[in-house]
Amino acid sequence: MVFDLHEAMENNTRSVEGVLNKFLSKGEGPERRVTEAMRYASLGGGKRIRPFLVNASARLFGVNEISALRASAAIEMVHCYSLIHDDLPAMDDDEMRRGRATCHVQFDEATAILAGDALLTKAFEIIASKETHEDPSVRSDLVLTLAQASGHEGMVGGQMFDLVAEGHDLNIQDITRLQKLKTGELIVAACQMGALLGKASNQDLQVLGGYALDIGLAYQIADDLLDVEGNAEDVGKKTGKDACAGKATFVSLLGVDGAREKARTLSNQANQKLATFGELAEPLRALAHFIVNRQS
Ligand code: IPE
Ligand code: IPE
Ligand code: MG
Ligand code: MG
Ligand code: MG
Repeated sequence: MVFDLHEAMENNTRSVEGVLNKFLSKGEGPERRVTEAMRYASLGGGKRIRPFLVNASARLFGVNEISALRASAAIEMVHCYSLIHDDLPAMDDDEMRRGRATCHVQFDEATAILAGDALLTKAFEIIASKETHEDPSVRSDLVLTLAQASGHEGMVGGQMFDLVAEGHDLNIQDITRLQKLKTGELIVAACQMGALLGKASNQDLQVLGGYALDIGLAYQIADDLLDVEGNAEDVGKKTGKDACAGKATFVSLLGVDGAREKARTLSNQANQKLATFGELAEPLRALAHFIVNRQS
């Protein structure tokens, strides 16, 4: 039977949004404003790729759906926080995200900063909770993995590198390192968190980590290509902004064709690594293909 990625992604989105909605209850009192901003930035829109990866990896190891969904909601919260802060005037200064006003435009800068902070913190509350996994060593591994991938040696480090590199020419090694930090590490964490929930062997964690690193790079290359070739209506955010801001990307270094070729090679390379998982890894293979062909 051919795996239907479109349907699987829709189901994934529905499930993850259900869990996010439950975790982000509306709240009371004056502080309700921050919950509204958290809900605004994390519900309604987004491809939910990282949750998909958590859930698809978890299924390789027979993890129960509730545990996987909780971990997938946590990583999506970290991702949504990173987008809120990425869009702030002090960073990329963007006014459109997921087809609507960015969080700081819809609310205000202070509220957007706080909503990002609170989404990050909530993510760790969720994975540290017993309801995510009964074994404390698994919970601690989840916390460690997500913390390392999100902080100064992961996504935040990549965001700093991205800003410092504005207006500079980078070589292929530097760009690869920048994108690995900025986007790759969280994608690796998504695959590994699914596997950790199933107490996967170190060898399986390594294999999934290798796959994720390749698709993570391919994912950021596709994002950079959409910035050059896409239009704001389809992509849901302003395009043409990387060149305008003097951002170093694979596209600025390799050109459009070279970058697309690089993304395809990475996606094929990623899929070759999944051979040991057989048919069960079909969702991960289909996703690797989607990543390089996506239009939004
Ligand atoms: C955008 O991420 C920023 C990158 C790290 C490439 P996504 O393309 O995953 O954004 P959403 O979640 O689908 O909106
Ligand atoms: C942002 O990369 C990556 C993170 C938020 C970690 P970009 O700045 O390229 O993302 P977009 O294009 O604004 O979505
Ligand atoms: Mg940015
Ligand atoms: Mg940006
Ligand atoms: Mg971009």
